[in-house]
Amino acid sequence: MKNIYSNIYEANLTNLKKAKKNIENNNVIGMPTETVYGLAGNAYSNKSVKKIFRLKKRPNFNPLIIHFRDLKKLKNEVILNKDFIRLYKAFCPGPITFILNKKKKSKISKMAIAGKKTIAVRFPKNKIARSLLKIVNVPLAAPSANIASKLSPTSAEDVADEFGNKIKFILDGGKCRFGLESTIIDLTTKPSILRPGIISKEKIQKALSKKIKNRKGIKIIKSPGQLKLHYSPGIPVKMNKKYPQKNQAFICLGKKFRNTKNYFNLSKNGSLHEAANNLYRTMRKIKKAKYKSIAVIKIPNRGIGQAINDRLKKASKK
Ligand code: TXA
Ligand code: MG
Repeated sequence: MKNIYSNIYEANLTNLKKAKKNIENNNVIGMPTETVYGLAGNAYSNKSVKKIFRLKKRPNFNPLIIHFRDLKKLKNEVILNKDFIRLYKAFCPGPITFILNKKKKSKISKMAIAGKKTIAVRFPKNKIARSLLKIVNVPLAAPSANIASKLSPTSAEDVADEFGNKIKFILDGGKCRFGLESTIIDLTTKPSILRPGIISKEKIQKALSKKIKNRKGIKIIKSPGQLKLHYSPGIPVKMNKKYPQKNQAFICLGKKFRNTKNYFNLSKNGSLHEAANNLYRTMRKIKKAKYKSIAVIKIPNRGIGQAINDRLKKASKK
């Protein structure tokens, strides 16, 4: 089907070349990844990075994730360590982001990393993102392609809806495979998870053959995005509800529930992966249908369920 958006481009070679031109001209483009769509610009260029912060209305103290194709370019920017190599071998390219210490000679835009001495790095698995990284031949700074504190986009249309014609070029990668952000793990000290995500703590522990912590409730905010209202659909969200109130949207899970008028089932067979994939999409749908608030059923807190609960908790903060 031909799309009705003039800024969404099919990801063929001609358009990848156009994307490259955009990046070279310090423009910001929409990029699909296997987690959520990113708002991508040349990570070496302050000019590009400035545009990302402005478009996203992101506070300048909140650093961006830098996306690489492989280890080649990474080596100039950060100090590698054993835990990183292990996790890279186990999961990359894939939905995990590593915090590593920056090298002094790093050329990554200081603005992109908010002047920090660490850099968040990720190697997306999505084929289009990988082709883009290859053709542009620079690392790409890319936060999720949503206005700060709102829901992350899981399709090219979501990105277009979010930014309108403020963004001129979005590569279409269809629906994101996972639909929820990458796991962020800090490897600058004892490994600890800053943001639960697609790759579970259990899998990471297995790959490292050691226990790791969730960074929770500590005073130093390692990820500035951590504590604020985040991932918000823009209406109140109430967690752990057994049923909705009148006229309230109800996000449910499992075969007990049918998709009736105000019931939105994340996964009929109770799959947490499917639920994660449907979470943002469902919240966008509910918002569009003009509901005033959302009740959410209790989501099992295991595996990827931890990432779902993390997002719901942040979405439900006042
Ligand atoms: O799945 C994902 O990770 C997506 C796709 C597009 O790659 N990206 C994404 O980016 O979720 P963003 O900017 O929405 O979230 C990145 C988080 C922010 O909360 C930021 O504070 C944190 O990563 N972060 C970035 N650099 C950091 C650093 N040096 N230390 C600690 N946290 C950092
Ligand atoms: Mg985000």
